[in-house]
Formats: sequence, C-alpha cells, structure tokens
Amino acid sequence: MDKGIAGRNVVVTGGTGALGAVVVDCLLQAGAICHVPAREARGANDARHERLHLVAGVDLVDEAAVDRFYDGIPQLWASVHLAGGFAMSGVTEATRADFMQQLEMNTLTAFLCCRAAVRGMRRAGHGGRIVNVAARPGLEPRRGAGMAAYTASKAAVAALTIALAEELKDEHILVNAIAPSTLDTPANRRAMPEADASRWLSPAAAAETILHLISSANTEVSGAVLPLYARA
Ligand SMILES: NC(=O)c1ccc[n+]([C@@H]2O[C@H](COP(=O)([O-])OP(=O)(O)OC[C@H]3O[C@@H](n4cnc5c(N)ncnc54)[C@H](OP(=O)(O)O)[C@@H]3O)[C@@H](O)[C@H]2O)c1
Repeated sequence: MDKGIAGRNVVVTGGTGALGAVVVDCLLQAGAICHVPAREARGANDARHERLHLVAGVDLVDEAAVDRFYDGIPQLWASVHLAGGFAMSGVTEATRADFMQQLEMNTLTAFLCCRAAVRGMRRAGHGGRIVNVAARPGLEPRRGAGMAAYTASKAAVAALTIALAEELKDEHILVNAIAPSTLDTPANRRAMPEADASRWLSPAAAAETILHLISSANTEVSGAVLPLYARA
C-alpha cells in the first residue's frame, strides 16, 4: 500500500542503531528521503543509499547542534526519535550522573528533537508527524524494578508525547510514540542467550508501525503511546 511518504523528508535519530537501521531501510523502501544525525561518521554505511543523508558530528544532547541539524533540512515532513539507551542499576548503586545520563539520553534528546522538528514543520507549513520511542516499563512502571532511572526517563517520553500531541492538534502535526518490549536485536541476543527470543519484538514490525504513524494516510491517530508487546 502506498504510504504517501515517497519523496518526503524524514529525520530518524538513532538511525545508526539496531532498531534505527531497520527503520531507515523501511522508510527508504517506501521512497522517503532519510536524514540521520550521528555522533560519528560510519564509513561505507554512510553512503549506502542515494536518499540517505547521514550527518556526522551531531550529539543530540547538545541544543545548538540539534537546532543546526534541523535547520539544514528542507520541507520537513516527519521526525522519528529512536536515539536512546538502557541501563540497569539498583537504586542505591545509581549515582546522580547515572540518573542524569538516562534522562539526557532518552528524554532530553526526544524533547530537543521534538522542539526543533516542530519549528521545521511550521516553516514547511504542511503539518507533520512525530514518533518518539518510549518502552514497556515507561507505560508499566511496575516492570521497572532494577531500572528505575530508565523507567522514569521513558515514562517522561510517553508524557511528553501526549502533551505535545495536545499542544499541536490544531496544526496537523500528529505526535505519537511506540512502547516496545524487548526487541530482537544482536545486542539483546548476546546479553540474554537463555531467553526465548521468539517472543521478542522484531524491529521490522516496529518499523512498519512507525511507517504507518508517519504516513499521510494517518490523519487521526495522535497522542497514542502504542504498546508493542502482543507476544511478550
Ligand atoms: N533494544 C530494546 O530491547 C528496546 C526496547 C524498548 C525500547 N528501546 C528503545 O529503542 C531505541 C533504539 O534501541 P536500540 O536497541 O536500537 O539501541 P541502539 O542499537 O543502542 O541504538 C541507539 C542509537 O541512539 C544513538 N544515540 C544515543 N544517544 C545519542 C546522542 N546523544 N546523540 C546522537 N545519537 C545518540 C546511538 O548512536 P551511537 O552509535 O553514537 O551511540 C544509536 O544510533 C532506544 O531509545 C531504546 O531505549 C529499545
């Protein structure tokens, strides 16, 4: 089905990560022009498709760097915020720095990118689509034992998503999030060799959901934080 995304400019943060690379491939296949900010250049991977623009030297916790990156994108249609990361830590072992690292990596990056994306979409003047990535413990904090900082940072992403959807509802800018359970990634397979990976979420399924949320066919769904754990 045509997703109405061909030729449109889409930012994918974390587009060099495990989920991000699959999302970028899915969007390229749908005809999008993908802009991926990265802290470091990746060599051959940078030029794997003519519609993939990888911009190195962008740390997404740096306000000025985020704004500069978005200022360079013409006619922004959608912004998908997958940058983030996970840390386990019992509450008494976690330092202030550990807590702030989770908030910065997961919540601040999403906030700064949402803000810059909204400015870009207003400049383009045709509405837009934003998708953030929360996580299952962000929606179900009782599952966050041993990862309280991560859980709080992802719950904040979910709240940010809903608040922004409300703020932007008269501008045709739809804001949603996905809340995945454990993804089937090489890193998770290495970290949990005994686990039943057949119950994990495939990155391709997450990518299809994101593609639908940012498509022009989606005109009604905004302020949703979608649980992606039908089998977990
Ligand atoms: N994996 C799971 O089971 C799972 C489950 C639920 C939710 N999630 C969420 O899904 C997202 C993607 O997960 P993943 O497994 O694909 O993670 P990943 O492979 O570690 O990729 C994370 C990406 O985010 C980028 N990033 C992090 N901080 C950044 C910063 N300050 N500036 C620029 N880029 C930054 C990383 O870039 P560098 O390469 O430069 O570090 C990398 O491209 C994360 O937000 C994660 O919390 C994952």
